[in-house]
Amino acid sequence: MLDVLPQMPEDSILGLSSACRSDPSPNKIDLTVGIYMNEEGVCPVFDAVRLAQQSLVAEETTKAYMAPAGDAAFNQGLQRLVLGSGSAALADARVSSIQTPGGCGALRIGAEIINAAAPGARVWVSDPTWPVHIPLLGSVGLRFETYRYYEPVSHGVNFDGMVEDLGRAGRGDVVLLHGCCHNPCGADLTLEQWSVIADMAERQGFMPFVDIAYQGLGDGLEQDVAGLRLLVERLPEVIIAASCSKNMGLYRERTGAALFVSSSAENARALLSQAQVAARRIYSMPPAHGALLAGRVLADAELKTNWEDELQAMCWRINGLRTSLVSKLEQNTDRDFGFIEREKGMFSFLGLTRAEAIALREKHSIYMLESSRINVAGVNGANIDYLAEAVGAVLRG
Ligand code: LMR
Repeated sequence: MLDVLPQMPEDSILGLSSACRSDPSPNKIDLTVGIYMNEEGVCPVFDAVRLAQQSLVAEETTKAYMAPAGDAAFNQGLQRLVLGSGSAALADARVSSIQTPGGCGALRIGAEIINAAAPGARVWVSDPTWPVHIPLLGSVGLRFETYRYYEPVSHGVNFDGMVEDLGRAGRGDVVLLHGCCHNPCGADLTLEQWSVIADMAERQGFMPFVDIAYQGLGDGLEQDVAGLRLLVERLPEVIIAASCSKNMGLYRERTGAALFVSSSAENARALLSQAQVAARRIYSMPPAHGALLAGRVLADAELKTNWEDELQAMCWRINGLRTSLVSKLEQNTDRDFGFIEREKGMFSFLGLTRAEAIALREKHSIYMLESSRINVAGVNGANIDYLAEAVGAVLRG
């Protein structure tokens, strides 16, 4: 029966990372998967997470199942982190959330809820978007429309195009937005632009679904959610997919949450019950370890400050790398790479053709996505010159 199934192609992101791991070149550079790497090329465990882990291991008395909604301290901590402790929606109990296996689990549960409310609803996604958004939401039965977003010539957001396309989104439609650090392009909306989107949602009745996988890695924890909070202040319904993969370094622990901002406390409770049923249908209950760590970090003032400081240092380092990369690339090419410094978070397109990205991989063992998306955090003092020289060599042909 099963032999009808063919071999599947490698994942466009994870496959390249595996290929890099097996490349024997001593000069190889992995700029593929979005994980934070430090100056030594290591994806570190946050100090605060390590401390929380020590106390958890010492105190943990059971490995019994988690509650269907997950850890309460984690859910409350994450709600406050994302929405702000002064959030009116939180004060009115109009928010519920369910702990999920990573941000992907949150996207999937969000999609399940949308599809339960409006089967086959249209979801507007940015062009481009993270490729996994499509199977994650599409496998539930949602349909897609795209809105213009990144303009490769100007290397910026085509906001006029976005507004024109979203002008066709109406009641019953969902608009998927990247809360900050757009993946793959790094070009974010300004607060004024978020406000225009909020106006449109109010007027036209579409519901935003915000993927906030990179809070804290653009400008800072508060700045990175300013646009999202503006939507929550103004609109009756917003779904949010949050993740602790990047900003707490909990990648493999699969730690995230789906947040439902609803028009009433009663509806928020109903959505949580729906989310629990959806989760039970797919994976029953979330994994414990990562959320118990994150819950401890968020609930303990000292650990939280320690974590915030380390995260801010990572954010500054990424922004510093962006500046250095622009200057090194411009020393080795005759192109303007200034856009890299204007973009946010882990990702930017280098603006290379697919053939050029492949040449960098095949001739120089530099691995980036074929769209030329790089993980800026994979750059460091030891590889930046080699990278810029190789880009120069490939562009000269
Ligand atoms: C990425 O885009 O590289 C990350 O979000 C990791 C992943 O799962 O694709």
